[in-house]
Amino acid sequence: MSKIIYHGHSFVEIRHNDSVIYIDPFITHNPLCDIKPDQGKCDYIILTHGHGDHFGDTVELASDKKVKVIAMFEISEYLQKKEINSHPMSIGGAFEFPFGKVKLTIARHSSSLPDGTYAGEPAGIILNLGDKTVFHAGDTALFYDMKLIGEMNSIDVAFLPVGDNFTMGIDDAVKASEFLNAKIVVPIHYNTFDVIEINVDDFKRKIESIGRICRVMAPGDSLEL
Ligand code: NI
Ligand code: MN
Repeated sequence: MSKIIYHGHSFVEIRHNDSVIYIDPFITHNPLCDIKPDQGKCDYIILTHGHGDHFGDTVELASDKKVKVIAMFEISEYLQKKEINSHPMSIGGAFEFPFGKVKLTIARHSSSLPDGTYAGEPAGIILNLGDKTVFHAGDTALFYDMKLIGEMNSIDVAFLPVGDNFTMGIDDAVKASEFLNAKIVVPIHYNTFDVIEINVDDFKRKIESIGRICRVMAPGDSLEL
């Protein structure tokens, strides 16, 4: 069984077996985050891309050598130069970690690190945890290959950006939910900043109107799989 906790923006925590996995741990400058930087504790960090609102507190969290950061090759190189323990991957590749299998998918976005360093391609994440599958889309536009991702994976929960401006907005994310065929859709990457303010009830209503389940999670909320 897995427990998934939402911490605002795109920061998702997954607890599976004995591992704590942080996806895009944006804590310090995240006005929505429900935990303080010194409360952050994990075994693994998985990054979708290098932008500051996703890379977040990675360096501080991973200064503990027991933490492993799973990221695109270029981000991984950058971290290794800082003597951070990192596992490089690239789009389309999967690897079996002790907690489960990680596969990176394409995302239609850009990617650089906060200091401007090239960070490779942005990614989405497919996580297989036992018999459950979680998809975290990272930052992305709507793209038709989401249909292929939905056909190849039986997604239990999909975390999709809905805030518009930098990523999909509500209507594109509703179409993405259809393509991905996810059992539960959780909206992320909205209301953190002015330019990504949306009415999330509109998203929930539209997802329900196509017969799907939308779970709006407030920072600190959890769900069990
Ligand atoms: Ni981004
Ligand atoms: Mn972002």
